[in-house]
Amino acid sequence: MRIALFSAKRYDRQSFLAAGARDIEFIEARLDLHSVGAAQGCEAVCAFVNDQLDAAVLAQLQRLGVRLLLLRCAGYNHVDLAAAQRLGLVVARVPEYSAHAVAEHTLALLLTLIRKTHRAHARVREGNFELDGLLGFDLHGKTVGVIGTGRIGRCVLRIFQGLGCELVAHDPQPDATLGVAYVGLQELLQRSRVVLLQCPLNGHTHHLINAERLSWMQPGAVLVNTSRGAVIDTPAVIQALKSGQLGGLAIDVYEEEAELFFADHSDEILTDDVFARLLTFPNVLVTAHQAFFTEEALAAIARTTLDNAAAYAAQGLPLHPVAA
Ligand code: NAI
Repeated sequence: MRIALFSAKRYDRQSFLAAGARDIEFIEARLDLHSVGAAQGCEAVCAFVNDQLDAAVLAQLQRLGVRLLLLRCAGYNHVDLAAAQRLGLVVARVPEYSAHAVAEHTLALLLTLIRKTHRAHARVREGNFELDGLLGFDLHGKTVGVIGTGRIGRCVLRIFQGLGCELVAHDPQPDATLGVAYVGLQELLQRSRVVLLQCPLNGHTHHLINAERLSWMQPGAVLVNTSRGAVIDTPAVIQALKSGQLGGLAIDVYEEEAELFFADHSDEILTDDVFARLLTFPNVLVTAHQAFFTEEALAAIARTTLDNAAAYAAQGLPLHPVAA
């Protein structure tokens, strides 16, 4: 089965070829209405998090003869599943590739933010060994609130247990085996010095962190988002940072990231004023959707995606279908 892989980077080519991909076309362009024609002659399309998978693009894919949509990611909030079903397109994803990759990046972001190692590194390279302005706080003994205790949230809980943190969690589907205290969202936000977002983006979690919920948080609390950008209302978060209500923010995802991330814009003028404002805060740390980006995760993504394609070719159903 010929697969058109959109948003292809050098590392995608390497991981898919290493996983034994044979009949695959690597297309650098992000999938949208302009680039969709590149899928001509392919029965499957392999898409990533910022590829456009709305009804219009899906209809074009179907017209071109595409039957299978292989998401090389876990989240599927960017796919119009109802349209896919109507068009007879089968959607598959990679539900699990490395929860550790994302959980460990959550820790990396948090420690960098609160111990200011990014600023310390820049200072030392400039020959400035002053400590003033680098004061941090211990995580040991602090209450950490984890929103979403699925595959990634569970890894996060284990990591922060190891650091000696008090843990509270919020999830509409609590897992009693985890031994963590589940509380309502308001109580979690009121009790936590650090809040970690590990839930998917859906109708309930869109702008879950808004102005009202930010006001429930402890003054000076720290927020980390490695889930999806739209889980937080960014302008509300900016107001909370300006007032000091929010003491720090680390994000790997941004609601409007599709036009920015995974590309080099260093020679261009940044036109997104909200994002530009975020970058001005000394207590904001941004990575560009790299939490998943480990050797282990890339290998697992390629392997599972090819397994999905092989299962579909053999029995008309991928290993990990996404239902509307
Ligand atoms: P999962 O499906 O294993 O777990 C998600 C958990 O969130 C479930 O326990 C679910 O009950 C819970 N949840 C659903 N609605 C909630 C709500 N309103 N409040 C609190 N919890 C809620 O998913 P997994 O693998 O843990 O991934 C979570 C999310 O992380 C993905 O959906 C994706 O958006 C994001 N992600 C980000 C990556 C990155 O590179 N930054 C990479 C991979 C995933």
